Amino acid sequence: MPLGDLLERNRRWSAERDANEPGYFARLATHQCPEFFWIGCSDSRVPANVVAGLDPGEVFVHRNVANVVHSSDMNLLSSLEFAIEALGICEIIVCGHYGCGGVRAATENLPHGLADHWLEPIRRIARSQALDLVRESDLSAQRDRLCELNVIEGVRRVAETPIVQRAWARGWEVSVHGLIYGLTDGLLTDLGCSLSSAGRPA
Ligand code: CO
Repeated sequence: MPLGDLLERNRRWSAERDANEPGYFARLATHQCPEFFWIGCSDSRVPANVVAGLDPGEVFVHRNVANVVHSSDMNLLSSLEFAIEALGICEIIVCGHYGCGGVRAATENLPHGLADHWLEPIRRIARSQALDLVRESDLSAQRDRLCELNVIEGVRRVAETPIVQRAWARGWEVSVHGLIYGLTDGLLTDLGCSLSSAGRPA
């Protein structure tokens, strides 16, 4: 699609939105008040607002390849800190998806360049959970289970950050949840690994 078409789509969207809800952009421009912070995969098929049925202004988003939570990722940490401390968000979601190309790459014995550094935490999970993973019926099921385990590990890592620990020490009701999205049915599933204050299951 040429860039001109994209800009034309934008103009149409803006006009329709403002026609349906006069003053919509003027209102949204003054402040944002999202209730959720979403950490998801960069995959174009898993846009946070769309799959969660949320409007602009309702979800603060960080996405990277395979929704990896690196404890030294300044991008993610800055977003997390801003979400909790400036926006006052209490609901944090780590969302993975089945059929994730990043998770698949982490299971292959092929060089992927920089991605191999980025995906190293997923390789570590695959090694440490190898006994659990071999119980799955086939490679595809193993990879899908690894997608889930990557989310569960991400929830733990977010909860261990000094940012979330500080919020809990202050008595703030912050919760971290793990969801997985199905590309084939468009559904989000709660993986039941939520953590709330002091790391207790939510
Ligand atoms: Co992905």
